[in-house]
Amino acid sequence: MVLTLVRLCAREVVSDHSSSPGWLRWVPSELFAPLLEAAFCSCRPLAVGELVQRWPERSLRVGGRRRPGQAGPNRLCIQALLLAVVRGLSDRRCAMQILDLCGLQGDEGGMGDPMGGWSLTVALCTMVVQARAGLRKQKRREGERERKRFSALERDEDIKRERGQYKKEQEPDGDDESSDTERMTLSGSAGDEEIKGVRRRMERDRQRDGPLAGLGDSRRENEEKELGSNVLVHVRADLFVNARSWERVRGALNSSGPLKLQCRYLRVEEITVSSIRTLLDLLPHQGLLGVDVRYSSLGVAGLAELLPLLSTFPALHSLRLHYCNLDFRRDHPGQDEALRDLSQGLAQLQELRRLSLTALRLPGQLRVLLSSLPQPLTILELPYLSLTPSDLAYLSCSHHAATLQQLDLSENRLDETTLPSIRRLLSQTSGSLQHLSLSGCGLTDGLLGLLLPSLGGCRVLKSLALALNPLSVSGLTDLVRMAVRMPSLRQLLYPNPLEDYQPGLPDLPSSAQLLDWPLDETTDISMTSSHLNRVVKDSGRTDLSLTCDLLNYDKDLVD
Ligand SMILES: *[C@@H]1O[C@H](CO)[C@@H](O)[C@H](O)[C@H]1NC(C)=O
Repeated sequence: MVLTLVRLCAREVVSDHSSSPGWLRWVPSELFAPLLEAAFCSCRPLAVGELVQRWPERSLRVGGRRRPGQAGPNRLCIQALLLAVVRGLSDRRCAMQILDLCGLQGDEGGMGDPMGGWSLTVALCTMVVQARAGLRKQKRREGERERKRFSALERDEDIKRERGQYKKEQEPDGDDESSDTERMTLSGSAGDEEIKGVRRRMERDRQRDGPLAGLGDSRRENEEKELGSNVLVHVRADLFVNARSWERVRGALNSSGPLKLQCRYLRVEEITVSSIRTLLDLLPHQGLLGVDVRYSSLGVAGLAELLPLLSTFPALHSLRLHYCNLDFRRDHPGQDEALRDLSQGLAQLQELRRLSLTALRLPGQLRVLLSSLPQPLTILELPYLSLTPSDLAYLSCSHHAATLQQLDLSENRLDETTLPSIRRLLSQTSGSLQHLSLSGCGLTDGLLGLLLPSLGGCRVLKSLALALNPLSVSGLTDLVRMAVRMPSLRQLLYPNPLEDYQPGLPDLPSSAQLLDWPLDETTDISMTSSHLNRVVKDSGRTDLSLTCDLLNYDKDLVD
């Protein structure tokens, strides 16, 4: 209630920018956060800039998890924020030492976002480089002034000496010079005052870093510390890097200035193994939680080359590879060695808990990939992997089976021969599995019927996705009758039943055919939906939602 009142007032206050010079300096620091939130919500870039430039707290966090349907912050507001961070470096009212922008671009790239991950990364890197250039300029100005001051002092001394007063004046206080500096800077222009602010904060930072100075023993740590001695603000963000932005990102990561970039999740697209290497070499090693590589032609050997590097990031818990040409070709020389290197490399990823492999063509090699991982995985995504019966048999007995919370096996064709493995896997993981996708797996009424008892045993399952499987209305009805008896289930994504398609669909349609084949416009599509929802209603469940909307389905909505 009180919070709401604060929010309402904050909106009102930031809505009139012309009045801000009047109130801004009287605002207590605990009101800056609600004011900034209001400025973002009502898209007031000027207010964002003024608040951020004099941010009174040690850390500022913008981003975080967005509520479903909530749009990301507006581009102008983000740009105002970044500019104000740079201005704040030389504003002594600004106490910011940590700027946390993690999650601002969303895990999935925030397509259609007002400021997507790619452009935000470029803007951030530009800010880092500019801040460094700005500091250099200031230092030059500072040096110039020092020189002038000394020559002025020398001139004074010459005059004093001439007058025979030199000795007498120097005796009372040796602190003359520093108080002189103080007076000069304080009585100077606004620019001088700003420099003073920077210097003070740099000194404070150095003191703060002091006690840790002896701890690092590796060369890299020392280097980082040395570079870090200028750092005023640590900027944490998720970085999205592609071929066009790579150069910019490299420059920003390699620059030692007042802003230091740290990466939480790194996503790279369409860049080479050596470029990825360079980035990983430059990234601060603490704090990187995940790496996501997409549409980059790594090959088995390329990935094997990157893994030792990845193992030097102690907090890395997520690795995602999406269309990385990891084709295993037995006829190519050296493939077996590369695969062995891969396995050994994966064994070094001590904290890995999430592995997503999309569209790698490594049939029959799942054991090689997963068996060497030191920790059991909690999230495993293997869509479009052409998993073989032996892959699934391995998975169902692997050390990951009992800990999985999320499992995505979509677009791997299941049949009678693989079903026993799937059932074993589901029974192994029944106490932990929360999200399961078996979309596009070729599940017919008969196959699904055999699977239903195992699915029903998943006690903590929250979401189940079964889109693009060739099921009939009767198969769907059985599915929903089972679903209403699963106490944790909140979301069920079901496929359009075969009856809803125009005639001519093959007997066992592929998921691509189910996706492309036109639905029959003469049948009422909402019939299926209302029929299934009646089953839910009759069961008395009100917390289970059904959908056949593949594009808008989001399992994370139930978390
Ligand atoms: C980083 O900067 C240093 C010095 O400015 C330069 O010698 C080095 O080549 C740069 N490294 C990368 C990877 O860009």
